[in-house]
Amino acid sequence: MPQALIELKQLGKTYVSGDMETEVLKEIDFRIEKGEFVSIMGPSGSGKSTLMHILGLLERPSSGSYHFAGKNINTLNDEDLAHLRNREIGFVFQAFNLLARTSVLDNVKLPLIYSQDKRRMDERARKVLKSVGLDHRLNYYTNQISGGEKQRVAIARALVNEPAVIFADEPTGNLDSKSGVQVMEILQKLNAQGKTIILVTHETFTAEHAQRIIKVHDGRIIGDDQVKNRRFAADGDTLK
Ligand SMILES: Nc1ncnc2c1ncn2[C@@H]1O[C@H](COP(=O)(O)OP(=O)(O)OP(=O)(O)O)[C@@H](O)[C@H]1O
Ligand SMILES: [Mg+2]
Repeated sequence: MPQALIELKQLGKTYVSGDMETEVLKEIDFRIEKGEFVSIMGPSGSGKSTLMHILGLLERPSSGSYHFAGKNINTLNDEDLAHLRNREIGFVFQAFNLLARTSVLDNVKLPLIYSQDKRRMDERARKVLKSVGLDHRLNYYTNQISGGEKQRVAIARALVNEPAVIFADEPTGNLDSKSGVQVMEILQKLNAQGKTIILVTHETFTAEHAQRIIKVHDGRIIGDDQVKNRRFAADGDTLK
């Protein structure tokens, strides 16, 4: 088997606070190949966001192993982990997490702040904003655009470093159905171009835009199946 992009073995996560222990993830085993589009589904509190934070190298597991692109993340220090995350991973969140009183263009340039080449940085940010259909909103402040546009800015920001993987946690959760479909269309287009997409959602309709659905319940994997009748946002999905 070729090297997986993501490989978890008996992964667990327990939060400890004082004498209280919360076991949030238990004995998780799966692999995700490069180029896959996977949905992670489960009810509220089942551990989806926690799993995404670990997969996205924002948090470390408490037990078991996690290999990202062949690297055992237990062997990396916090700085290595941050580097790997900045290079390889883009995040999109339900609440957009954009900077207020800052232009659309500057929000997207933010992850490039350490880059040396300012002109290339500007070109790159404009290009990704164009790819999500926002080239007419570059100089708007983020409080002057709609929710759907905000989420497309967040996707552009996630893309600007050309990561291998995009993690999206309930990216359509705060959107009307039309804007939600636009976001799913963009994610499907990115996947068709070769990006690995990992989408967290509790909605079956949204999840079915992926190729595969991993189901989480009470911190355990209870299902892992290919989607039989995959939905395509470009084909005129309208409902939610
Ligand atoms: N830092 C923490 N300390 C203790 N418990 C935590 C912590 N973070 C999350 N939890 C617990 O872990 C469980 C899973 O949380 P998580 O946010 O992963 O759920 P989720 O599946 O994303 O839910 P939702 O659909 O509501 O977003 C919850 O019961 C939560 O209370
Ligand atoms: Mg969550």
